[in-house]
Amino acid sequence: MTQIDTSVPHSARIWNYWLGGKDNYPVDEAAGDAYTAVFPGIVTIARSSRAFLGRSIRYLVQVAGVRQFLDVGTGLPTVDNTHEVAQRLAPESRVVYVDNDPLVLTHARALLTSTPEGATAYEPVSLYEPEQILEAAGKTLDLTRPTALILSGILGHVADYEQARDLVRRLLAGLPPGSHLSLNEGSRGTDPAYEQAQDAYNETGAVPYFLRPVEQIEAFFEGLELVEPGVVSVPLWHPEPGAPTGPIGQHGGLGRKP
Ligand SMILES: C[S@@+](CC[C@H](N)C(=O)[O-])C[C@H]1O[C@@H](n2cnc3c(N)ncnc32)[C@H](O)[C@@H]1O
Repeated sequence: MTQIDTSVPHSARIWNYWLGGKDNYPVDEAAGDAYTAVFPGIVTIARSSRAFLGRSIRYLVQVAGVRQFLDVGTGLPTVDNTHEVAQRLAPESRVVYVDNDPLVLTHARALLTSTPEGATAYEPVSLYEPEQILEAAGKTLDLTRPTALILSGILGHVADYEQARDLVRRLLAGLPPGSHLSLNEGSRGTDPAYEQAQDAYNETGAVPYFLRPVEQIEAFFEGLELVEPGVVSVPLWHPEPGAPTGPIGQHGGLGRKP
């Protein structure tokens, strides 16, 4: 596990900055501002991604009847964290957060709470250790029961696409039929400025994040039954009445393991 390094920008902290949070350092603010100077749309993308996550959890609880959540690549606590959305609707929901950033760990200990009926846990494990993630999650979740795997803005950190797919397959392999995958990732092909800003970000020394073609994001759901409307630009997935629905470079969806 690496220590907190405030000399290079970091994914979770920049994301927190764009989401309007305070858990970031000047180096993150500078990298975040350099990014928005090239592509201001990233702020909408970050917020739309969180909004999609919230709507997908609501669907999982209210329509799919899921009560267990495994959120890998948690990020820093923000408004409407996974357990808050799920437990507001079903207080008995059990949630395991996984992230490998030491700063996320520090904040998670202080901020992640639970209803008395449910449970919330945090496991500092890397995405690159999927079997270890499942073993750690099994301390809090009953992995013989349907569980929602959440991968929100993390797979772009895995440079090799086939490796990223393999990690998703190995995580899903440990979950029973009726489990779901809620996934959303930055996509290529919507705005060249987005790709330019991301390329520049990837040169800052931060862990790089790679935007992917929509077809590659779709293929993460291989073997799953996609919930309508499939993999789409996130504002278009079960939009709130009156919410902006223009397509943006963040695609996602929800799939069910048959
Ligand atoms: C862009 S943030 C997304 C946060 C949150 N899921 C959301 O959608 O708002 C990416 C998160 O993935 C985490 N992450 C990156 N690589 C990871 C790895 N190998 N193992 C676990 N977490 C990782 C980062 O620490 C960061 O918190």
